[in-house]
Amino acid sequence: MMAAALQWLFSRGYNGAVETEAHTPARRTLRDIQTHYRQGAILSMVTCYDFASAQLLDGCGIDMLLVGDSLGNTMLGFETTLPVTLEDMIRHGAAVRRGAPGAFIVVDMPYMTCQISHEEALRNAGRVMQETGCDAVKVEGGQAMAPTIRRLTDAGCPVMGHIGLTPQSIHALGGYRLQGKEDEAAKRLMADAVAVQDAGAFSIVIELVEQRLSREITESLSIPTIGIGSGPGCSGQVQVLHDVLGLFPDRHLRHARRYAEVGETIRNAIRSYAEDVRTGRFP
Ligand code: KIV
Repeated sequence: MMAAALQWLFSRGYNGAVETEAHTPARRTLRDIQTHYRQGAILSMVTCYDFASAQLLDGCGIDMLLVGDSLGNTMLGFETTLPVTLEDMIRHGAAVRRGAPGAFIVVDMPYMTCQISHEEALRNAGRVMQETGCDAVKVEGGQAMAPTIRRLTDAGCPVMGHIGLTPQSIHALGGYRLQGKEDEAAKRLMADAVAVQDAGAFSIVIELVEQRLSREITESLSIPTIGIGSGPGCSGQVQVLHDVLGLFPDRHLRHARRYAEVGETIRNAIRSYAEDVRTGRFP
């Protein structure tokens, strides 16, 4: 009887932890993600940056929410992700956790928060984990970042890697363009992926990498790859929420697919509201 009850609880995502709040729903865990991957499921991830969106997304069947440092572009209006600070990530990460208590949430480590020393990386990732209540951090970079990723994972901090087009290195890469087209670059990307996996990462984002190469990398690894602009051969896909929802009506990216025209819906709603106020129809 007891065993059956426990089996039911585990099947609902219960991870053995004692919940402290009466209404806390079963929370998706790293084990759930790993089990899904081993069962051959294609993993889905989408970015999320605020409380209201998190509330809407929680329970929609998404495997992981990413509090990406792309919030520098989508929420703060910067051209690159470089101005995003650790405090920005903590503030947004904690808001997403409040909105989506059941979700598996990954928070990006922003520019230069993991590069200066292992000690700083540990301190900064520790703050993100403690102050946001998220489940993992994401660190950009391949072989050069592997020793840092090893220190974080040894310290019990789950890490998602990120290779290919790494937006924090946009100036060094010389722009947003497909990665791994030449033989040398392809070999380097494969070595990056293996180094990040061997350092203990549980998953790797592969951004804007030539399709055949991203499939080859995926087939060589025993952890899931999450692609963006890297074709269908990855273990999962990630998209920026604003692109999926059409929140920027004028932005059209080749690797994104719009599932709604929320930007236009918002504009129409606000036009109607303004008109109603002007004409006395509201209140
Ligand atoms: O910051 C972000 O949104 C990302 C995704 C594009 C993978 O890193």
